[in-house]
Amino acid sequence: MAEKIAESTGFEKVPVVSRIFPDGESYVRLEGSLKDESVVIVQTTCKPQDTNLIQLAFMTNAAKRTGAKKVIAIVPYLAYARQDKMFLEGENVSIETVGSMLRAAGIDELITVNVHAEGALAKFPFPAKTVTAIPLLAEHFVKKGFKGAFALAPDKGALYIAEQAKALLGGESGNLEKQRDRYTGQTTQSAKHLEVKNKTVIIFDDIISTGGTIVGAARILREQGAEKVFAACAHGLLVGDAEKRILDAGVEEIISTDSIPGKTSKVSLAPLLSETLKAL
Ligand code: R5P
Repeated sequence: MAEKIAESTGFEKVPVVSRIFPDGESYVRLEGSLKDESVVIVQTTCKPQDTNLIQLAFMTNAAKRTGAKKVIAIVPYLAYARQDKMFLEGENVSIETVGSMLRAAGIDELITVNVHAEGALAKFPFPAKTVTAIPLLAEHFVKKGFKGAFALAPDKGALYIAEQAKALLGGESGNLEKQRDRYTGQTTQSAKHLEVKNKTVIIFDDIISTGGTIVGAARILREQGAEKVFAACAHGLLVGDAEKRILDAGVEEIISTDSIPGKTSKVSLAPLLSETLKAL
């Protein structure tokens, strides 16, 4: 991702040496002088989240030590963003802690993609913004001939995502309802009626993790007579056998971005992130 961004922005590339010590601790070294430079550090924070986060902090500290005047972090997938409030007494607000840690490391600005809840970034102790990859995902489906498909959000919180997709797909949009038990983490979805009979439906979400949300939505869509079902997300965490479970539930294909590189990441974020950087 960093190489692609460097190519399209014309920014100089600085290699990073990194390794993990036998006890699990991280080591990083920047190979280049950054004196008085504005530096962009590209680091996604998918699994292993804690290692990736600490390496981002270490690279930032190293950049500042070698004289960088500003560090902008590009974090295509921002870990811990779903714990953006205290749902139960005694919890922490993970994303707030992450923001404070990154500030302490020296980050001056952060750009991420489809953060779970935008409001979480407002509490960061430095400017942080999120850009959306949903139009890129929707465009991918338009190119594949699915103009007019129904854009479905698996819960109300993702409706804005389905609406962004609808703007390009030109079909209809709607949402299901999802409830989460805050103690067990279990979710249940309500089979709200949708006008999907004989239609191609694309389920859009910010994240696919265990796949439970998509599997549940696909079952409801099948019951309501949808002809074909696809799934698209910005961040394909796809934990364990999530991909298989989703395909077994009748979903034709899963598409995600390269915020988390993998089999489903067929849409690159590099052009979007390059444009965002150029516009700063
Ligand atoms: C939470 O509300 C998110 O937007 C996703 O719907 C959720 O993280 C998906 O998780 P899973 O794939 O485990 O159902």
